[in-house]
Amino acid sequence: MGYNTEDYIRVRDEFSKKYLLARQRAEERTQHIHALIPEVFEIDRVLSGTGMDIMKVITSGEKNTDAAIAKLEARNNALIEKRNAYLAANGFPTDYTDVHYDCEKCGDTGYVDTVMCDCMKKALVKAGFESSGLGALIGKQTFDNFSLEYYEVANNRKRNAERLVEMLKQFAESFNDESYANFLITGTSGLGKTHLSSAVAEKVIERGYDVLYVSAISLISDFEENRFGSGMGSGKAHDVRRYYEADLLIIDDLGTEISNKFTQSCIYEVINTRINNRKSTIINTNLNSTEIKSVYSERIASRILGEYMPALLVGVDIRRQKSTGNKVN
Ligand SMILES: Nc1ncnc2c1ncn2[C@@H]1O[C@H](COP(=O)(O)OP(=O)(O)OP(=O)(O)O)[C@@H](O)[C@H]1O
Ligand SMILES: [Mg+2]
Ligand SMILES: [Zn+2]
Repeated sequence: MGYNTEDYIRVRDEFSKKYLLARQRAEERTQHIHALIPEVFEIDRVLSGTGMDIMKVITSGEKNTDAAIAKLEARNNALIEKRNAYLAANGFPTDYTDVHYDCEKCGDTGYVDTVMCDCMKKALVKAGFESSGLGALIGKQTFDNFSLEYYEVANNRKRNAERLVEMLKQFAESFNDESYANFLITGTSGLGKTHLSSAVAEKVIERGYDVLYVSAISLISDFEENRFGSGMGSGKAHDVRRYYEADLLIIDDLGTEISNKFTQSCIYEVINTRINNRKSTIINTNLNSTEIKSVYSERIASRILGEYMPALLVGVDIRRQKSTGNKVN
């Protein structure tokens, strides 16, 4: 599992706060009841001494310890019944002073024995969505609402799109520690590049992996901030590290950033390091391969064109098809 470390620490802290709060609330309710019903206070005093009572039985030299312990048990059961009756008579539910956890399975610790509880996994997925950079896109642009109807049947455009979706779906739905694939999704505006990559992101995050989505422009500005900005303590250094370390990085709109030595070296570093570390990357761009070769240094172009699976979407702007209601087929 590649949960983002900062997300994990944040979620773990939230869980321990939740756990302590649940216990504190129960303690407050107990004190309230003790102040209100002295008989319950007295019963609880006796019940809480049970451990000591058992010790006394064991160390007393008494022969039939089982019988003595059974007697204590019967005493306790009777006391609990009495306690319940007192609570009910005063209008309280019998579990009023119990600790109420959000998750009864793990008692808000996040773990059942040493296995992470589903509730914590869920919280980590939610945190993963929030820290993915996808913002409002997450959960909106999915494989389920990606339709092939917008691609022309003619010239195999629909068939091509279908193949691409299948390939990305397969990649996303089987993502694991060994996964390594790079995709270069190209095509003109409004053909579903961003839509498909957020669909992939959602699935991969749900599988417990760290996904980072960023536009090329934002990636560059994070590097600028890191290099030339306020520096230490600005908090940006972490963001840059994540470009190298995320299990899946999605760079959207490559080619819209300004091109100079600095921006090219940032892109080279990210792409090259990720290839060397076998970390998957998806790049979306409106540039075709000739344009990629002319915009980027040979070192970048040869990596993008050589190490990435090319995936071309061809068609008519789906934004426009949707807004005008004129579908291609
Ligand atoms: N196959 C599809 N089925 C349904 N909706 C789609 C499909 N492809 C794209 N859309 C929708 O059309 C709009 C444009 O798609 P998207 O943003 O993915 O295009 P893009 O290729 O990233 O374009 P750009 O190059 O301008 O960034 C979005 O609202 C998206 O949800
Ligand atoms: Mg886009
Ligand atoms: Zn749980």
